[in-house]
Formats: sequence, C-alpha cells, structure tokens
Amino acid sequence: MSMSIEISFSKTAKISGGLVVAVGSLASPVADAARSADPSGQLDKAVKVADFTGKSFSTADVIAPVDSPADRIALVGAGDPAKLSAHDWMRLGGKIFTLIHKARKVTVLLGEGGTPSAEAAADMALGLLMRSYKFDIYKTTKNEDDDNGSQKVSVVFQHADAADCKKLFAIRQAVADGVTLARNLVNEPANVLGPVEFAARAKELEALGVDVEILTEKDMKKLKMEALLGVSLGSARPPRMAIMSWMGGKTKDKPVAFVGKGVVFDTGGISIKPAASMEDMKGDMGGAAAVTGLMHTLAARKAKVNAIGIIGLVENMPDGAAQRPGDIVRSMSGQTIEIINTDAEGRLVLCDALTYCQERFKPAIMINLATLTGAVIVALGHHHAGLFSNNDDLSQALSKAGEVTEERVWRLPLGKSYDKMIDSKFADMKNTGGRHAGSITAAQFLARFVKDTPWAHLDIAGTAMGSPATDVNQSWASGFGVRLLDELVRANYEG
Ligand code: BES
Ligand code: MN
Ligand code: ZN
Repeated sequence: MSMSIEISFSKTAKISGGLVVAVGSLASPVADAARSADPSGQLDKAVKVADFTGKSFSTADVIAPVDSPADRIALVGAGDPAKLSAHDWMRLGGKIFTLIHKARKVTVLLGEGGTPSAEAAADMALGLLMRSYKFDIYKTTKNEDDDNGSQKVSVVFQHADAADCKKLFAIRQAVADGVTLARNLVNEPANVLGPVEFAARAKELEALGVDVEILTEKDMKKLKMEALLGVSLGSARPPRMAIMSWMGGKTKDKPVAFVGKGVVFDTGGISIKPAASMEDMKGDMGGAAAVTGLMHTLAARKAKVNAIGIIGLVENMPDGAAQRPGDIVRSMSGQTIEIINTDAEGRLVLCDALTYCQERFKPAIMINLATLTGAVIVALGHHHAGLFSNNDDLSQALSKAGEVTEERVWRLPLGKSYDKMIDSKFADMKNTGGRHAGSITAAQFLARFVKDTPWAHLDIAGTAMGSPATDVNQSWASGFGVRLLDELVRANYEG
C-alpha cells in the first residue's frame, strides 16, 4: 500500500533512465527487446555470469551497461511461455515487483511477435499490483530500505497490442481493487472496524452503482434473527447486516447470492478462547470481507450479472449480557438451536443470513464464505478452502475456478450420519457436534437452513489469513475468495 503503482501500456518503449525489466525465455534468455537497453551487447555476458537461463520465475538483477539508456536492467524468465497459465503470468508480475527497489520508473520489455499475449501482459500487471500490497497505515516510522516509501512508481509495459492490454487490464484493475479491499478489511484491527464501521465500508460501494441496505439491530429483531442477535449480546457494539446488490444482468434473471460471516472479533464469548493467537480473531470477518471485495469487483468491472452480497456483522464477546452455553435460541427460519459452545458463533450468524437471503431473493445459487472452523485448518492446512455443497455442478464449477485462480477448494462430504451429530436433547439442533469432523458438522448445521437452492459453503479459516506468502500475496490477509468467485461468475453466470 505504501508504494503507489501506476500501470500503463505502450506500443513503443522510450527508455530514459529508470529500471528496465526484460522478460526472457529458455529459448531466448535475453529477449531481443532487451537489446534496446543494451546497445553494445554486454547483457549476454552479464547473464552468463549471473547464471540466468530464462527458467520460469527466475530473475537476475544486472547492472546496466555504461552506454545503456537505463539506470538498471533486470531479467525475468518465462521458461517456455506457451506453457504458462494466467496465474503463472500473475506470478511473474509479482516477481517483477521484487526487482523495483528504489526505481521510480519501470519499463517492462516483453518478448517479440505478440508473445506474451495481451492477456498475459495484463495478468502480469495484476500480479504486480497484488504483490505490491502492504498494510502499513499504522506504522509511523517506515523502513527506508524496505520499499519506495510513499512514492509513486510508474510501470510501463511495452507491448505491440498496447490498446488491447489496456482494455484487458481495466478488468483486472477491478479485480485488484476488490482483493485490496478484502485484504484491508481483514487486516484492520477490531477496535477500528466494528460492525457499524464495516457496514459503512460496505455502504461506500454505492459509489460504484451497488445498492446497499443496512439492517440495524431493531430491523433484525423484527425479522426474528435471534440466532445472529444472540451472538451479539455480549458486545457493547451493535450488530449490522449489509445487503449489497449489483444488478448488471437481465431483469428477469434470478440473482447469484454470496453470504459472508462477519465476526469482527471472536473471543469465543463465554466459552472463551485461550490467549495464544487470539489476536488473529480480528480476521474472523474474512468471509464478509471476501463478499464485499467481490461485490466491489463485479460492480467496478460492470459484470453482466445480478449479484447479491449479504454480510452478517457482529462481535463475539463475553459479558454479563452475553449468551450462555445451554441457552436456546429461535432462528429466523423458526428452527430452535441449543447453544453448546458460544465459540461456535459463525454458524449462528450465517443461518439467519442464509434464511433471509433465500426468503427475500430466491437466488439461482447461494454461496457462503466463512472462517468457520479451526478443524478445516487441521484437515487442509492453508492451501485449500473446505468446500461443502448440495450440488455437484456448482461444486465442479467452484473447483474449476479454484484451479484457474489458484484459490483452491477441496470438497468434503455431507451426509445423514454427520447431520445426526448435531441433534439436540432440548432443541431442534445444537450448535456443535463434538470433537470429531468439526468442519463437517458445522457445514451440516448450515445445510439445515438451506432449502432447494443450489448451495455451497466455503470454510476459509485456513486461507483467508495467515497463509504462507506467495508471489502474489505477502500480506497476512490474502483476500481469498474474491478472485475465485469473480472467476466463477465470469465463467458461469454472465450473459
Ligand atoms: N472463528 C473460529 C474458527 C477459526 C479458528 C478461524 C482459527 C480462523 C482460525 C470459529 O468461530 C470457532 O471458534 N470455531 C470453533 C468451533 C468449535 C467451538 C466447535 C473451533 O474451530 O474450534
Ligand atoms: Mn468462534
Ligand atoms: Zn468465529
């Protein structure tokens, strides 16, 4: 965030100072394009010394030849460019970011003859932007060597089809902005981002043409959302629900709906969590952040789809007024829930949001995202989100979108025997199913609130935050879900 990057595309490259990055390949480690920065042909020697072969994702930082119009030249390898996926090009863009250091002007020289494609060039720009993200607004002293401070850096991609690149990049800029929004929301501490403040951020999407309605506690009481409201009882800060709608599709088309868990902080409530790593629970609104980021992206790229985003915003705190284990609440659906553990609060927020979503919008599909269970991290680590669904086609479409975007999902089972595990002695169901299969029983709980709508639940506890740094993300918050669902919409639901 501290470095502000300005991306542009140009048919020709006028190099005068700054950094030149040449994208080479195994066939031609020093792309011919790079010759323009190396009139006396010294790059080949430098490349030999640096052992740069053009292998994909390899880089070499070489000092510019004396007669070069550039201050510095760096090389990035694309290996066999024909074999690279869109996400590979994004990763290469991320690599380019690491070569910038203190440069203010960067010229990226791509290969020759229309390769890489305009798409690939735009993907590189997207990857570069995503990699550049940094959440440091609360650092009052910045490390000089760290980056460019708050400097503007202009990055010009030289490409024969610059006009095409520009068009394709405009769509990706919308994606980058949605991802950035989601990351910001997750990284923001809970003292700054309570339910009311989060709702206000959602409201800002109106500037893009999204219609945003905010439900207050009073509204939710009227709607009998007792499950959601129960979670909020221990908090001094009132809950909110935001309903975002982007109607970019045909009027008659049923909307696709996205529902997010937005627990701005999860102490566990009366079933309080241990102190170790509790600070991470500021990210327990990762589902709501992904939905908000996605709605931003869809609106900013004017997606031809009708999409609804619903986020349930609460804080889970222990207090004299807090909900207790043993309490029984009546959800908006009418089904009653015995609270066994107040730390299983996400499903209580989601069940009322899911009911509201189906009753009001009758969506074509409904997907919810939630940092729902620690158990999903035990099962899948940080590399796949858990996927649960009542619909094979939707599952397959999500898995495919996961492969394309490398925001991967892995389907886990649902079934009668798991469903039984949440039967309650005193109410229709209980909010936990015991020690075993914790992610599945959480999903079974949600499934009891889904009628005939094709539905999927993504448990993103392991992927929304704290996942290992990658070529396109160095931040604690990943923004997981925005690109996945944007791709799902693009591939399946746009007119
Ligand atoms: N927000 C947590 C899940 C979580 C854990 C997210 C770690 C991200 C990282 C959720 O509300 C929770 O506390 N789940 C409990 C459920 C249990 C009480 C049945 C859990 O996973 O332990
Ligand atoms: Mn919890
Ligand atoms: Zn939680």
